Amino acid sequence: MVKNLTKKTFVVSALVAASLMTSGVMASDKTEPRNEVYKDKFAKQYNSWHETAESEEVVDMLEEVPSLVVLWAGYGFAKDYNAPRGHMYAVTDVRNTLRTGAPKSDEDGPMPMACWSCKSPDVPRMIEEQGEDGYFKGTWHKGGAEIVNTIGCSDCHEKGSSKLRMSRPYADRAMNTLGTPFDKASKKDKQSMVCGQCHVEYYFEKTKDHKGFVKFPWDMGTTVEQMEVYYDSIEFTDWTHALSKTPMLKAQHPGYETWQLGVHGKNNVTCTDCHMPKVKNAEGRKFTDHKVGNPFDRFEEACGSCHTQSKEFMVNLTEERKVKVNDLKARAEAQLVRAHFEAKAAWDAGASEAEMKPILMDIRHSQWRWDYATASHGVAAHAADEALRILGTAVDKAGDARIKLAQLLAVKGVKQPIAIPDVSTKAKAQAALGMDMKKMNADKEEFKKTVLPKWDAEAKQREATY
Ligand code: HEC
Ligand code: HEC
Ligand code: HEC
Ligand code: HEC
Repeated sequence: MVKNLTKKTFVVSALVAASLMTSGVMASDKTEPRNEVYKDKFAKQYNSWHETAESEEVVDMLEEVPSLVVLWAGYGFAKDYNAPRGHMYAVTDVRNTLRTGAPKSDEDGPMPMACWSCKSPDVPRMIEEQGEDGYFKGTWHKGGAEIVNTIGCSDCHEKGSSKLRMSRPYADRAMNTLGTPFDKASKKDKQSMVCGQCHVEYYFEKTKDHKGFVKFPWDMGTTVEQMEVYYDSIEFTDWTHALSKTPMLKAQHPGYETWQLGVHGKNNVTCTDCHMPKVKNAEGRKFTDHKVGNPFDRFEEACGSCHTQSKEFMVNLTEERKVKVNDLKARAEAQLVRAHFEAKAAWDAGASEAEMKPILMDIRHSQWRWDYATASHGVAAHAADEALRILGTAVDKAGDARIKLAQLLAVKGVKQPIAIPDVSTKAKAQAALGMDMKKMNADKEEFKKTVLPKWDAEAKQREATY
């Protein structure tokens, strides 16, 4: 089985190579995906980039906030969701998460190729070699032996140079829709746009031949309301909720969008100003610190270049804002958990599609807003007032849904309040939803042992020919 698979892949890649040659398309000469190549030429940048490995802690968000399992019932995120960590772990983490499952062949799901898109400079390499059509075709398994280098130089730079670039054509198009094409953008704009290739809201646009092209839902604007109208207008749904049957939206991480709405974004203080400040090395030579992480670790260079307040003051202020955002976030979550179970009770009592429709729209919009605010990692630092405003509307819409549900349940003669099962831990919540975690974990372990080494071996062979 192992041998067969390898053989088949070789035949396929030989065919692809042959067809590329005949069609005149060459292997990419615009992207060097191997970060190590720059180890000596750009030592300061390479070494500081490598230090993103120091942010290694894995925080299991489902353990921290078990309600998330209920909010994402029926969707991959209910299986496994960790807080973000250093760029050095992007490929490792997407391989290891239960969300990508344990596929054994290109025919196995659950995820599409699109799921690799923000993990590696091998993504622009593949797009340059095969076009977006070729890259996005097929399941996530197809990219396993191709996408192996973690987020690095060629994601943000032109090959062999310090010149910034948009490496993903779909991100480039999205920036055009906002009115500033990358090649016309100022140096400062570019410093945020390179991050905005990945730290954004996006969705997978399905077509007849494709499980999903990455698209940013920015055609009508980038606020939470504008994207909501956009998604509604194309009747897009990420999944149907397992309890309430709501046609749900999953927000990704609209950090670029929310940063724009904060005081720094409005003053064009860029992602780079805070997350990649200019620092001095031991010899006093200035360079851009590529250890993208917590700006407070380099307070003097990151904040002190513009502000006179102390680090303690700024850290405390940010912590206060986090407490406020988290408080409202938890209130929205508590309302949404109840709304999903109450909607299930209404369905169980024989409610009709027509009766449920307005309720499900409220739940959809409430959870989308909650997610937009909270999945924008760092939002308490970037735009706390916007996060609080959005979360306020999320609580409001969940309240609307629950008032309508209370009336409908009364009409159906259902006794209230609706009982909610014990969802106080991740394990209890997953059990309450009937998820077979034992099997998922066992399959994943097997996948790590058998499939990953094959991917790495195949990649090594391919890269040896560069
Ligand atoms: C997430 C995006 C990103 C990644 C990944 C990245 N860079 Fe940079 N790099 C930048 C930004 C932003 C600047 C600031 C320069 C500017 O604004 O033009 C920069 C500047 C530089 C410079 C110019 C000198 C300096 O220090 O300002 C060099 C050289 C460089 N990077 C090399 C690298 C190398 C080598 C890698 C991979 C090991 C890498 N970069 C990875 C975004 C990135
Ligand atoms: C190619 C896509 C991509 C680009 C470009 C990118 N990021 Fe990321 N970023 C990610 C992913 C994916 C993660 C999560 C990695 C993980 O948890 O395995 C992440 C994580 C982070 C984190 C969390 C780090 C930690 O230690 O907790 C910060 C902060 C961050 N990115 C900021 C930036 C900034 C600022 C830029 C631009 C200079 C940028 N990123 C460019 C994809 C990207
Ligand atoms: C490139 C300059 C620059 C950098 C770097 C910078 N800021 Fe600011 N900051 C500004 C500007 C401009 C304002 C707008 C208000 C003003 O003009 O004083 C501002 C306002 C603020 C405010 C008051 C507005 C509010 O949010 O209530 C806080 C707090 C703040 N910054 C924190 C920080 C922190 C923390 C860092 C580092 C992580 C940082 N800033 C880095 C330029 C900067
Ligand atoms: C004014 C400075 C400033 C600017 C500008 C800024 N950030 Fe941040 N960012 C911060 C601070 C401060 C934190 C929170 C650190 C903490 O939690 O203590 C943060 C947190 C984050 C996080 C969450 C990290 C984690 O592990 O949870 C991400 C991701 C991030 N920023 C990305 C970006 C991106 C992308 C941009 C530009 C679109 C940007 N930031 C612009 C200061 C800034």
